Amino acid sequence: MIDQAGKLRTMVDGSSAPELQAKQPKIYSILSGKGGVGKTSIAVNLGIALHKLGKRVLILDADIGMGNVNILLGEVVRYDILDALKTGISLRDIIVSSRYGIDIMMGGADLFGLEELDAEQQAGIHKSLGVLEEYDIIIIDNGAGISRQSLAFTILGDELILVTTPEPTAITDAYKVLKIVSLYKLKSSVKVVINQAHNQENADETFEKLYHTSKEFLKLKLERAGSIFSDSRVNRAVMDQVPFVVKYPTSLACKGVDAMARGMLNGESGIERVDALSRLGNRILRIFG
Ligand SMILES: Nc1ncnc2c1ncn2[C@@H]1O[C@H](COP(=O)(O)OP(=O)(O)O)[C@@H](O)[C@H]1O
Ligand SMILES: [Mg+2]
Repeated sequence: MIDQAGKLRTMVDGSSAPELQAKQPKIYSILSGKGGVGKTSIAVNLGIALHKLGKRVLILDADIGMGNVNILLGEVVRYDILDALKTGISLRDIIVSSRYGIDIMMGGADLFGLEELDAEQQAGIHKSLGVLEEYDIIIIDNGAGISRQSLAFTILGDELILVTTPEPTAITDAYKVLKIVSLYKLKSSVKVVINQAHNQENADETFEKLYHTSKEFLKLKLERAGSIFSDSRVNRAVMDQVPFVVKYPTSLACKGVDAMARGMLNGESGIERVDALSRLGNRILRIFG
């Protein structure tokens, strides 16, 4: 893991190139303990809600081998980051602009488990990283649990958004993720979304459980990022491959996501802007080095 982190560091050290220092997108990394809690649905619909509020948004699908951001959006994506690394296509050319105003980039592989890149490949990546400047917000949709990749993306992100449902198994698994975040000091605060809540009380209770346990046992501040109610239209939208914020704008789920997007932007002015990409090397060093 240390070697791979070193390679990543080399790759991202290229972000100290002048063009990347000018402006940085804010990076949100979405995680969960248990699978199927709604990370991808939230990533996609939240992205569209933020776009409606005037932000330029890129969703990076980082669910290794199981990426489905494109399916929820009904878009065909031909190339992923692995293809870009292998063939020298630039990152700009693998990004697909969806019909809903947000862009998507598919990870495709465990990027942190790749063999050493040769100098030419590294140079290509450095050069094309500048494309990320075009965005205000990058949302990283990870696979479930903590993998080498999701860990790295958690470090890379400015903010960690943890999704759980009220199910006891989902809460227990969410807590395990929080434990790792706390143990490795990946973040000092985590934003929590309660998804598939039956009602407001159910969402509040779920958050409280995580909040109190984390306060007592972990050095971690949990912030409430939103609640999204269980809503059959979320599933219907998946079947139709049209995001629910587009197809069902009056649904409860849409209201929850809209509120979350507004909350993120309201909090934005108070948050120190950091150059996440160029700080990545240092953070990786601290954890793996
Ligand atoms: N708020 C919700 N209400 C009802 N069903 C939901 C809700 N959020 C997600 N789902 C359903 O849960 C399933 C898993 O969602 P998905 O976003 O793929 O989760 P993950 O990315 O965490 O694995 C999908 O079938 C989706 O329709
Ligand atoms: Mg998913």
